Amino acid sequence: MKQIIENCINFVKNYFKNDSSGHDYYHTMRVHTIAKQIAEKEKADVNIVMLSALLHDVDDIKISPSTNANKDNARRFLVDNKVDEKTIEIICNIINEVSYKGVETTPSITLEGRIVQDADRLDALGAIGIARAFAYGGNKNRKMYDPNEKPKLNMTENEYRNHVSTTINHFYEKLFNLKDIMNTETAKKMALEREEYMKEFVKKFLTEWNGII
Ligand code: ADP
Ligand code: NI
Repeated sequence: MKQIIENCINFVKNYFKNDSSGHDYYHTMRVHTIAKQIAEKEKADVNIVMLSALLHDVDDIKISPSTNANKDNARRFLVDNKVDEKTIEIICNIINEVSYKGVETTPSITLEGRIVQDADRLDALGAIGIARAFAYGGNKNRKMYDPNEKPKLNMTENEYRNHVSTTINHFYEKLFNLKDIMNTETAKKMALEREEYMKEFVKKFLTEWNGII
């Protein structure tokens, strides 16, 4: 199994090489590292968690939208590496569940899936989360902040998808809700710590916005 994990790291490194942002390999590696830690604490199957975390974005449509038919990169990797069919099914189900995008996602049936989902969400929090949010906002030409645009809370899934907001509003509309939908206690604790840091950041951002200190 150790060899398969090593092959998998090389596979994602190579897969994301063509990504113009050059960013997603490191996101993948962070999710893998966070997920492994949670798996150990929650006594889950660490190998399934590691492989699912490493492969969680390789079939994501937004990364290579031109080839949206038959996204089976994860399955092909696992078959090529002679992983047994039962394990392949488990991992592919986890990847499907994690890549589902919506305001509220149904928690995965397996503990391993819930952990990968938690790790993916944790990477949207903390210092990394702040950096990713502004990188995303800049890429989409969004404003950092606008005092006249208030966050829109309790949006439906459709409203959320069509809503254009400032990056600071995104903190309130999505990121500060993440700790409440963490599946595991371990992730909830990590989320709380990361959220506290972000709240400090927003506080300082707003005082500086108003020209204080
Ligand atoms: P993932 O990489 O897990 O698939 P997403 O594609 O939903 O997640 O988001 C990637 C990153 O961009 C996350 O850190 C997320 O917070 C950030 N992001 C997504 N939507 C917005 C938005 N409207 N404003 C600012 N940041 C966003
Ligand atoms: Ni992700």
